Amino acid sequence: MEEMDAAVTSEVDRGKAAVQQAVTMGSLETLISERNRYIGKAARLRTLQRQLGQLTPDERRRLGGIIQQGLAQLTQAFEQGEQTLERAALEARLLAETVDVTLPVTQHPMGARHPISVLIEQMCDVFIAMGWQVAEGPEAEAEWLNFDALNFSSDHPARFMSDTLFIDPASEHRIMRTHTSPVQMRTLLTNDLPVYVVAPGKVYRADEYDATHLPVFHQLEGLAVDKGLSLADLKGTLDHLAKSMFGAEIVTRLRPHFFPFTEPSAEIDLLCFVCHGQSAEDPSHPCRTCHSEGWIEWGGCGVVNPRVLQAAGVDSSQYSGFAFGMGIDRTVMFRNNASNLRDFVEGDIRFSRELQGVAR
Ligand code: PHE
Repeated sequence: MEEMDAAVTSEVDRGKAAVQQAVTMGSLETLISERNRYIGKAARLRTLQRQLGQLTPDERRRLGGIIQQGLAQLTQAFEQGEQTLERAALEARLLAETVDVTLPVTQHPMGARHPISVLIEQMCDVFIAMGWQVAEGPEAEAEWLNFDALNFSSDHPARFMSDTLFIDPASEHRIMRTHTSPVQMRTLLTNDLPVYVVAPGKVYRADEYDATHLPVFHQLEGLAVDKGLSLADLKGTLDHLAKSMFGAEIVTRLRPHFFPFTEPSAEIDLLCFVCHGQSAEDPSHPCRTCHSEGWIEWGGCGVVNPRVLQAAGVDSSQYSGFAFGMGIDRTVMFRNNASNLRDFVEGDIRFSRELQGVAR
């Protein structure tokens, strides 16, 4: 009998030691397998329990009680061990996931929108406020839409390789659009009348890249076709745009010019806001902004040539319209006093930031 008593006691002691060890190791896995070993179905104490039947009733009761107690102690020990391990695991996780808000952070400097993008939006907003729509066209354009439909003769100098970028193969007659005016024709072909649209975008010319020339620049095209539109509507619209862009003091003038797709045609000039035209009259005070011309060329415009309306299937006896196209890069230059066009394409964020600072 004493042998069996001792066997129970030592088994209980070993079980408790196993709990201790698993806790020290910090291993829940070990704890679970030890629990199986000491109080699971095949545990030694369970085997002893099953052998109790061979004993006298008194002995059975006595030893049975001791085994029960031992099993209860071990169950408790394993439970406590499990709790300790779970708490430790949680603490470790909380510690690992702590965010130290005092640590220095990686600084991501704020970007800045390109002045051209900002200005395109501002110019379009002036027209959206008047109920106009914004249209778009592709930069790789059909030669027909860029030239023929706009009444350019087949030998017009703008069609020469030296001015226009042609796309291979030449037999497809595709070019990089040289102005945003092909959007006029696209609009007329797809929209119902009347139309009031502006179309901002990139245009391409075979120009050298320097401080005053870019082979890629931006224009804002405008087209209005309705019943009874005249040159007066054009002038009013352009004055409104000029005042919105440069302030109420700006002075504009229309100077007669020629475009195949407008008749009459004009160029719109801005009175130089540096010398206010003085430099043209007084040679002793030259002006760098307007090259002492007194005026700055802003864009082209005119009354839509009836031939263009006819090419688009519009009844030119009922409808008339006006169109204009301004340089957007030039607008930024004059408005923000940015004299070097190279700054527009070099992508230095300081340029964008600086111009944003002075934008109206
Ligand atoms: N497309 C012309 C240019 O690029 C400008 C223009 C547009 C002129 C619309 C008249 C009407 O110079």
